[in-house]
Amino acid sequence: MIILQTQNEVRVALADKKKLALIPTMGNLHDGHISLIEHAKNYADKIIVSIFVNPIQFNSKNDLKNYPRTLSRDISILRDLGIDILFNPTDKEMYPSKPLLNYKLPSLATQLCGAKRAGHFEGVITVIEKLFDLFKPDHVFFGKKDYQQLMLIKKFILDKRYKITLHPIETVREDNSLALSSRNNLLRPQSKVTASTLYKTLKDTIKDLKKTNNINQAELSAIKKLTSLGWHVDYVEIRRQTDLLKPTTNDKNLVILGAAYFEDVRLIDNIEFCTDDTKCL
Ligand code: PAF
Repeated sequence: MIILQTQNEVRVALADKKKLALIPTMGNLHDGHISLIEHAKNYADKIIVSIFVNPIQFNSKNDLKNYPRTLSRDISILRDLGIDILFNPTDKEMYPSKPLLNYKLPSLATQLCGAKRAGHFEGVITVIEKLFDLFKPDHVFFGKKDYQQLMLIKKFILDKRYKITLHPIETVREDNSLALSSRNNLLRPQSKVTASTLYKTLKDTIKDLKKTNNINQAELSAIKKLTSLGWHVDYVEIRRQTDLLKPTTNDKNLVILGAAYFEDVRLIDNIEFCTDDTKCL
């Protein structure tokens, strides 16, 4: 594995471009990232992982400061996995001047997490554009845990006509169903058990919805349940899978998404489901 820190080093290293897979990350690698890498191995001759804690996607200085950073551990994980290139640039290398994004994000970027984290998705798409333009990957891999991010990147690829195949990869979970996330490392060990109630509540809400067919009521009772369990809820919403808009009565393939704070740690999760098992994709 070679470790590159500058865009010039990347251009030299990729002169003999083969089929490239890119997995953008912010480090603190866990089994969710490893699953992205294992999937990538089926599609590419060269696998590139980027580790860059992208400052412009954080809307709180504290959140950026506390984000878990474990570079030497990450490097040894990537070496063991046989990755070809680790790209680990500095902030200055990525943003020598104030970054400008020449792309109008769809209104989805201001909903759900976008409504609670102003500028977050502009920051994500800005760094993604830089990485796509630098590496020109054939395949990219993103986890479904960040469902809204995945949707926005999918739309960005379409709108900008990148010749990139996007692979959405299933969320990896702890035994108790807590979705793996670097932010879990900010929880106290005993809180990891309680934090699994986010997933469980989303799952129960799907069951309730199938009985009542009332989306608003299902969302409200999920929020109530989570609040009673000690969560500070940003949102629980049921949307359609295709574009994350509010479902109409004809939409059967839905996703329930939740974002909530547990002891000041903001966690997100989602579950795809179908309202009518006979009519689902
Ligand atoms: O999902 C993440 O870790 C980040 O948002 C990403 C896609 C690496 C962009 O910084």
